[in-house]
Amino acid sequence: MAKQMVADLQPGQQVDSCFAVIQMQFQPYKDPAKGHFLSVLLGDSTGEISGKLWHGASLIQGIASGDVVKVTAKVEEYRGTKQLNISQLAALPDGELVDLADFLPTCSKGRKALEQELKEALGRFTDPALKSLLTTWFSRPDFWNEYLLAPGAKRVHHAYLGGLAEHSLEVFQLSSTMAKLFPAVNEQLVLAGALIHDVGKMQEYQYKYTIDLTDQGKLLGHIVLGYQMLQREIACHGDFPEEYAEHLGHMILSHHGEMQYGSPVEPQTIEAAVLHQADLASSQIKQYAQTIESGAETERWLYNKTLGRNLYRGFLKEIS
Ligand SMILES: [Fe+2]
Ligand SMILES: [Fe+2]
Repeated sequence: MAKQMVADLQPGQQVDSCFAVIQMQFQPYKDPAKGHFLSVLLGDSTGEISGKLWHGASLIQGIASGDVVKVTAKVEEYRGTKQLNISQLAALPDGELVDLADFLPTCSKGRKALEQELKEALGRFTDPALKSLLTTWFSRPDFWNEYLLAPGAKRVHHAYLGGLAEHSLEVFQLSSTMAKLFPAVNEQLVLAGALIHDVGKMQEYQYKYTIDLTDQGKLLGHIVLGYQMLQREIACHGDFPEEYAEHLGHMILSHHGEMQYGSPVEPQTIEAAVLHQADLASSQIKQYAQTIESGAETERWLYNKTLGRNLYRGFLKEIS
C-alpha cells in the first residue's frame, strides 16, 4: 500500500500507513482504574503529527522511539492542529520493507551536487600538510559516505540527511569570503577548519528512521567527539605540524564561540573567530530560510522559538 505522508493528511481522513516513532509516552488516566493511554509523536520525511491511542495501550510492547510502526487511525483536528486518533499501532511485521527515504527528509540540493561541491572544496587546498591530511581523511570510504549522509542537527537547522555536508560547505564558502577581506587570516587553515568543524556530528547522531542523539552524543557532544576524531586522524600522520594540530584543535573546540553554547574555550585566533562567525551565519540564516519556507501562503508572521522572535513574511511576493 502506498505510504500516506504526514503533510498530506486531512481532518476526517482514515489512515492506514507506516510512520516513524519520534517520541512515545504512556500516560495515566485521571481515573487510575482505567490504566494508561499512549501518547506518541509520529513522523516521516514531510513532517510530524501527534497521536493518542486511548484503548489497548497496555498491549503495546517491543516498540521504542526510532522504530517504524504500522498505524491505523483517523485524522482529527484539535485546537487548529491535526492529530491522530489511533485505533491500532503495531511493530512492522518481520520482513516487511519500507523505503528509508520516506522517513527522513533529505537535503534539497541532492547528494550528487553536495558530492561535487565537496570535491571542489577539497581541490582548494595547496598547503601540503593540510592537503595530505584532508585528502587521506576524506578518501576513507566510510568517512566520505557518512559525511555526505549525516544530518546537521536533530532540530533547529540543517536537520535532514546531507545537512552536515551542506552546512559545512556553507561555512567553507563564508569563511573563504571573510579570509579574502582580511589578509591577516590564514585562508588554508580556516578552510580546513570549516570542513571539519562539525565532523563530531557523524558520531553524535543516529539516523535511520528518525534523527536522535547517540549515547556518545549525549555523553560527549559533537565538539569533543570532533576533537577526538581530529586527534586520531593526525596520529596517522607522523609528520603533521604540531602548530597546525593545535590550531585546528582550537578551532573545533571554540567554534560555538562561548562557553554557554558548549565551547570549552572561546576563539582566540583570527582563524577561530572567522570560523565561529561563519558557523553562526550559516546556522542562523538557515533558520530564517526554513521558517519562512515552512509558512502557509497566507501567513505573514511566524514565530521561531530558537531565535526567540517573530519573522515577517509580508514582503514575500506571493502574499503581498
Ligand atoms: Fe557545532
Ligand atoms: Fe557548525
